[in-house]
Amino acid sequence: MKTTGRPVISATGLFTPAESITNEELVAAFNAYVDKHNAEHADAIAAGAIVPLEHSSVEFIEKASGIKARYVLNKAPIIDPDVMEPRHRERSNDELSLMAEIGVAACQQALERAGRDPADVDAVLCAASNMQRPYPAMAIEIQQALGIEGFGFDMNVACSSATFGIQTAADYIRAGNARSVLVVSPEITSGHLNWRDRDSHFIFGDVATAVLVEDVAIAPAEHWDIVGTKLKTVFSNNIRNNFGFLNRAHPESHGSDDKLFVQEGRKVFKEVVPMVAQMIVDESERLGIEPTTLRRLWLHQANTGMNRLIAHRVLGHEANEDESPTVLDTYANTSSAGSIIAFHRHSQDLVPGDTGLICSFGAGYSAGTVFVRKAG
Ligand code: COA
Repeated sequence: MKTTGRPVISATGLFTPAESITNEELVAAFNAYVDKHNAEHADAIAAGAIVPLEHSSVEFIEKASGIKARYVLNKAPIIDPDVMEPRHRERSNDELSLMAEIGVAACQQALERAGRDPADVDAVLCAASNMQRPYPAMAIEIQQALGIEGFGFDMNVACSSATFGIQTAADYIRAGNARSVLVVSPEITSGHLNWRDRDSHFIFGDVATAVLVEDVAIAPAEHWDIVGTKLKTVFSNNIRNNFGFLNRAHPESHGSDDKLFVQEGRKVFKEVVPMVAQMIVDESERLGIEPTTLRRLWLHQANTGMNRLIAHRVLGHEANEDESPTVLDTYANTSSAGSIIAFHRHSQDLVPGDTGLICSFGAGYSAGTVFVRKAG
């Protein structure tokens, strides 16, 4: 079949775990852990040798972030004050790995929605903040499970992984190197979160999303034209995770907090909001789109305050839920999947000709914009 080199989004898919943790359940577990820790170290605390841990609060979490609950793949150990981390059964090499399993589920939905036979997909990009293992690539396992020929590889750009994946897929289409590319983002963020850290224990949740990027020549009649994509990175230590293969066996590594997600939340807030707002405005201008006419913003889901400020700067007024939908209340921050969940769940009501923006931002720093227009 003839190709056009014009990339579109044919369909999206979403996998949501069965279990969810409310703020109340999370805080109860955290505070039980704090009480136990302080009781066990009562003498050292009394002597001033260590400072007591402080309780977390449901009110703080909701006010600071907009998060009310988060889905997780393995709830019980996370809210057990003696464990407070996910514990997954180690699977044999002959079984589909956990990350591939949820990625496949999201991909299957995207393929079904597009009416696409997996045999006609050319490539799988697994774009996520954390990979379950270094190799073989998660993308290749997902490719094999779906029965896709061609190729697959993993890419990690933290919270911007999905939009970086979409631009990469779009570039394959533009160059004529592929006609159909799956961008899958299985985000098992419960594994990199320090559930004992009061400042961040409420932030993340688990999910998987998939985006099918295709040449318009083979896309279903109802699709989203990709009007333009833009990526940006600026190095920062303000969101960092030092876990890696070089420190695996280091004696100081065990239990060390910096081998999990660590952030300077206030600095991130202050530095990323203006950077992203400016990027959106500049890119709108380049594409000849008046930002105030954007019908909907599907922003990265990290924090309602950040989204409120970015949307205000772009639209010129306080955005309502229709203009800038949030999924933070039920999903929390799902890293790169957040803006895709928002798009997946809140795009059906738009009409042909409506233009919107999928936008991610996060560690790196990294940011990505994907302007889309409904067609069909
Ligand atoms: N429960 C109750 N109080 C808490 C708390 C908790 N779980 N965690 C922190 N606090 C307290 C702090 O001790 C501090 O008290 P103080 O003012 O008496 O010192 C106060 O709340 C404010 O703490 P701070 O960490 O500055 O909170 P914040 O208002 O900046 O909100 C974030 C924290 C993380 C929600 C916010 O900085 C943020 O969203 N940043 C954006 C970055 C982001 O989301 N990144 C994710 C990766 S993209």
